Amino acid sequence: MVQTHSEMQAGAAVSGMPGGMSVRRIAEIGGAEISGVDLSQPLSPETRDAIYAAFLEHFIIVFHDQDLDPAAQEAFSRNFGDLEGNVRRLAPGKLAPLVNLVTNMDDSGNPTETPPTHGNYFWHTDKSYRPAPSLATILHAKLVPSSGGDTQFANTGMAYDALPEETRQRIADLKVVHSWEASRRNTGNVPATAEEIADSPPVTHPLVRTHPDTGRKVLYMGTHTSHIEGMDYEEGRALLRELLEFAEQPQFVFDHQWRPGDVVMWDNRTLLHRAVRNYDMKLEKRLLHRTVVKGTVPV
Ligand SMILES: [Fe+2]
Repeated sequence: MVQTHSEMQAGAAVSGMPGGMSVRRIAEIGGAEISGVDLSQPLSPETRDAIYAAFLEHFIIVFHDQDLDPAAQEAFSRNFGDLEGNVRRLAPGKLAPLVNLVTNMDDSGNPTETPPTHGNYFWHTDKSYRPAPSLATILHAKLVPSSGGDTQFANTGMAYDALPEETRQRIADLKVVHSWEASRRNTGNVPATAEEIADSPPVTHPLVRTHPDTGRKVLYMGTHTSHIEGMDYEEGRALLRELLEFAEQPQFVFDHQWRPGDVVMWDNRTLLHRAVRNYDMKLEKRLLHRTVVKGTVPV
């Protein structure tokens, strides 16, 4: 079954961390709570390194009771690399700010079941339609529903390890075309504009990616994929669907239940994620501030 924090006995906190910081594993598939750090303040190099080490070990790191304005969130995020703006544009030629909003609110600030974009409700890994997709995404919860509005994570390293050996051999050298245009089509969103397509033309990444920091093999796919290079279009789409269905099985999935003030940072190189519509979107507001750290070209 899908794991949540409350369903697993938390592991022992790790002591000996810098500045009173502690790390506690919260689920089998990944996830750790980090306490004793105020992310609104500059991090010492030791604390930054300890946070990154926890990120590599646990994939999803959770900090509760934080209060970051956009400048502080941007500063915290820059500890881990350059940031990437949003594809959607505010006006012709103008990019969205580096801290962007994930919300079910319309332009008037009212909650709605049909927000302007809903691609985040489908399994994906952020920016996989870019030549060098995201290393990490950081979400900071400002408004959360009284219950629900969760974010789920699927561990594609665990899923890869669990595939039959025959399948692992069959997919070993396949390459997948990802594109923003395909993503908009796959999710039934407003079609990508010519300007957006020019900004994010299709890119090709290996289906089986080697994690650049851990060396672990993972499945790299999701909603931003179009097809498999060199394979019959429909056959490739069917294989991608089959692998996605395999990876989203409950034994590979962790469900984060938000509290206001949470900061969650996750590794897009080995996780798929999606938001869940398990709240009354017509009545309750959900607002998170998002930053995305750039990664490297997948190999
Ligand atoms: Fe996302």
